[in-house]
Amino acid sequence: MSLAAVILAAGKGTRMKSQVPKVLHKICGNSMLSYVLDSVAAAGVEQKIVVVGFGADLVAREVEGRGQVVLQEQQLGTAHALLQVSPLLKEFNGQLLVLCGDTPLIEPDTLVRLVESHRAAGAVATVLTAEVEDPTGYGRVIRDGQGQVKRIVEQKDASPQEKQVQEINTGIYCFESAGLFEALDKVTPANAQGEYYLTDIIRAYASEGRTVGAVLLANQAEAVGVNDRVQLAEVDRVIRARVLLELMSSGVTVVDPQSTFVDRGVQIGRDTTIYPFTFIEGSTTVGEDCVIGPDTRLVNSVVGSAVTIQNSIVLESYIQDRCSIGPFSYLRPETRLGEDVKVGDFVEIKKSDIGNGSKVPHLAYVGDATLGRKVNIGAGTITCNYDGQNKWPTHIGDRAFIGSNTNLVAPVKIGEGAVTGAGSTITRDVPDGALGVERAKQALVLDWENRKKKKVDEGKDS
Ligand code: UD1
Ligand code: CA
Repeated sequence: MSLAAVILAAGKGTRMKSQVPKVLHKICGNSMLSYVLDSVAAAGVEQKIVVVGFGADLVAREVEGRGQVVLQEQQLGTAHALLQVSPLLKEFNGQLLVLCGDTPLIEPDTLVRLVESHRAAGAVATVLTAEVEDPTGYGRVIRDGQGQVKRIVEQKDASPQEKQVQEINTGIYCFESAGLFEALDKVTPANAQGEYYLTDIIRAYASEGRTVGAVLLANQAEAVGVNDRVQLAEVDRVIRARVLLELMSSGVTVVDPQSTFVDRGVQIGRDTTIYPFTFIEGSTTVGEDCVIGPDTRLVNSVVGSAVTIQNSIVLESYIQDRCSIGPFSYLRPETRLGEDVKVGDFVEIKKSDIGNGSKVPHLAYVGDATLGRKVNIGAGTITCNYDGQNKWPTHIGDRAFIGSNTNLVAPVKIGEGAVTGAGSTITRDVPDGALGVERAKQALVLDWENRKKKKVDEGKDS
């Protein structure tokens, strides 16, 4: 039996008060829509169609490679939205799952259960419903004396009595494709909102005496539709907890899940510990036996094993095994650290390669530089990589020792095993094994303390 899915995502999401289409708002680093697409895919659906409208190009880009896209030029209602896919499903004969792009908590198992129940009952339509404390805003499921679903009434069209009903329409359905588009064609916008309601075909089917099924959600939280930023934050909390639970089950220690923020899709190895106030985002991967945090942010980075990072920010960087970073370091994009590298406190590194075993222990800026192995960078050292117009490279050979407070005026090369004197402004290359010093000879005034004192005393006398 064939199964296809349609995700309705053309609406603007007015209550989000945003320029960004609602379904593209992010939850743990991924768009709301991508959660729905993933759930549908995990439920085994191959043909996926997304109905786009507001921000169509942006939404289409998000769907790319994961489904087909159909444009609903004017958002005239959910029935009208579904009708737009009919040209794509002319040849299709089977069951059609219909979902909304704004219910990201829906689980694949639930979708499977919905389809199975629909098939077993030989229903023409099956609605996924939920019992909720506060049904405000949702369509209410109206059943007859025998418990059969008769219709769904929207909040704005409901009588005071109907508003009391706590069983709501999740906006997720399974339909027989045969006859569906003909039925949708007959829907009229004769309701409080003047919209073509998809829910009207439930009433139409039931009144024709056809079997309309209902599956009640076991976990009503799955039905939460995101309509505003408050619900966005609620759903984010739920998904964040799921992400952390998965990590903990796989052997990661999360010291305080309440204050740890990991995007979905991030990978973390066994026996890594994450301390509070840590954000691990995007496509980041972290190896085993690491200690990350407290107060750390990693974005789109690759971190090896046995790495320590505390109170630091790491963006689009590549960090190999046994590195130690922080506290208070800032690794900017395209930083690559070899194995056993130490980046200490108050260090900024940008677009640089640091070789195995090298150390930048404190208070330094390293930009557009290539460091060999076992290089030591003294405190206060900076690469002067920018002349106001262009960025220039600095090369430092293996085992070089850069004295404290050295200014390396790029482009410049420091040879293998070379040394720079503390406080030097190095503008010319220093060959292998050489010492480069650039500073004025030190002057000495002997007995300065006494001479000064004497002067002061004499002043007092006069
Ligand atoms: C809808 C249901 C309601 C249900 C609720 C569950 C209808 C008439 N009502 O109401 O019974 O309880 O979902 O969350 O279906 N959309 C389009 N094109 C349109 C209109 C909407 O693609 O012309 C999309 C939206 O982008 C959204 C989804 O359909 O993803 C639902 O639309 P929305 O306006 O949020 O419907 P609700 O009022 O929440
Ligand atoms: Ca909604």
